[in-house]
Amino acid sequence: MKPTATVQQPLALTEDLLGLRAWRMPDLVAYQRSDDEWWVAPLEDSLPLLRLNRAGIELLTSMDGHTTLGGLLNKYGSWVCGPDGQTGRWHLERWSLPGYSLCYFGSEPPSADRHGAKWDLLLQQIREGWSGKEGFEGEEHLSGFHLHDITNEDQHFDTIETTVSHLFREPSEALQGMTYGRLLARRLRQLGWWTPKPRGILEVGGGLGYMAREIAAELSPEERQSTRYVFLDIAKPFLGSQLALAGEAGWNRSGTQANAEWLPFRDSCLDLVIDNENLADMTPVKLSRREMVSATGDMPIHQEAVDWIRRLRLPLDQDMPEEFMFNLGPIRFLSELWRVLRPGGHAILIEFGIEAGWPAPVKLPGHTEYEVQYTHLRHAARWMGFQQQYFPLPQFLAIRPDIRLLCTGATYSIQRFCEAEGKPFSIRAYTERELTEALGPILPKLMGCHYHEISDPAWFGLWDFKVLLLEKPGGAPRPSFRETKGFRWYSQR
Ligand SMILES: C[S@@+](CC[C@H](N)C(=O)[O-])C[C@H]1O[C@@H](n2cnc3c(N)ncnc32)[C@H](O)[C@@H]1O
Repeated sequence: MKPTATVQQPLALTEDLLGLRAWRMPDLVAYQRSDDEWWVAPLEDSLPLLRLNRAGIELLTSMDGHTTLGGLLNKYGSWVCGPDGQTGRWHLERWSLPGYSLCYFGSEPPSADRHGAKWDLLLQQIREGWSGKEGFEGEEHLSGFHLHDITNEDQHFDTIETTVSHLFREPSEALQGMTYGRLLARRLRQLGWWTPKPRGILEVGGGLGYMAREIAAELSPEERQSTRYVFLDIAKPFLGSQLALAGEAGWNRSGTQANAEWLPFRDSCLDLVIDNENLADMTPVKLSRREMVSATGDMPIHQEAVDWIRRLRLPLDQDMPEEFMFNLGPIRFLSELWRVLRPGGHAILIEFGIEAGWPAPVKLPGHTEYEVQYTHLRHAARWMGFQQQYFPLPQFLAIRPDIRLLCTGATYSIQRFCEAEGKPFSIRAYTERELTEALGPILPKLMGCHYHEISDPAWFGLWDFKVLLLEKPGGAPRPSFRETKGFRWYSQR
């Protein structure tokens, strides 16, 4: 559930504050509604759009780091700054609050590096401020959220957690004119994962079902024939959409509601498992150094985590902190994969994560996910017996690093403007050409549209997403032919 905006008291404009300089957020987009009316969108989307007149937009554009808050107050404080009658003082008392996040007051800008990633950090801190509780929310928090708090599945990926595959669910210039799911299916075919054809595919945590739709679009009917596509999701509301899209795409499909940490399937019954952006949703455990040293967990779930770490002989950092997070859910899932995959079966796991240190929380509206520690996960996969390959996601998909995409923050603002105008606009990754096409006459009315190279951490942190490819050894030797559109192409070897 998305929390409603916390009521934030207007800022008291004290002497100390008046000496600070003011910067507007760099990726801010304003929409010129008419000759003398502009709209801007607060970060918290339960706050109404702000309507500004010429004085109001001038106040916003004056926040360039050269002017102090005191200077702005002197000049604009008593002016009416919008059609709703609020004065410059009213705006100055609110714009830097987390819910608005339109500007920052300080002695230095919160950015010194080339890409302004520190602005991004500031926004992240702001988000953390308005989401979830302080500290660790407990082992049951994530499964509880997915079981009980998903109420509007249609908007979930636009407002709560936008995924990479959701941003690229329609053909995109950035992906050589393909969708994410389609490109992924092409890569899996190139890897030989469709030779022989998988008979049973499981997609875990399929969200709205776009991946299944797009994989089907890439494969020929012959390649799909006699394959059963099974969805497993902890959140029932998503299963309906998954089954609908997969059915329209021609899959022989079924769905089951379950937690992927305990797969309700018999041993060795699946050929392929797809898990996209779901590992960080699985159970995290907060362990202490004392529990590790004594090999005794404070409660059964801690004992399970301690036992896993010892059994796997996980090489934990020397400088183990007093308390640290461990990805128990992903390890449970991995061991379930080993059980349910047939010899020769494959799994592809994609999620954001780290290779050193300890999983940090990523606060999202209503829930907190944890980074996947890939060194631990890969060690566990090796220990279980999997053969594996590992790539950064952009490298796996061969995405050109210099493709420029609209800042996602701008996309959210534009969606709000379009919604208020009764015009359709979807949250997606947009190149400049795609945005021009999508917005038509609205585009010239927008100020501040800003594009990032896809490799820039400020654009969605795509390089933090990793692909782990697993194979359970022991399958029959591969046939020496490829099948395309019903034809078999034999290799010369
Ligand atoms: C971030 S979404 C990713 C959705 C989709 N794969 C995509 O890339 O857009 C996570 C998905 O995993 C599901 N999920 C979360 N935790 C799960 C668990 N423990 N077992 C099964 N599904 C889970 C959610 O309901 C949701 O469908």
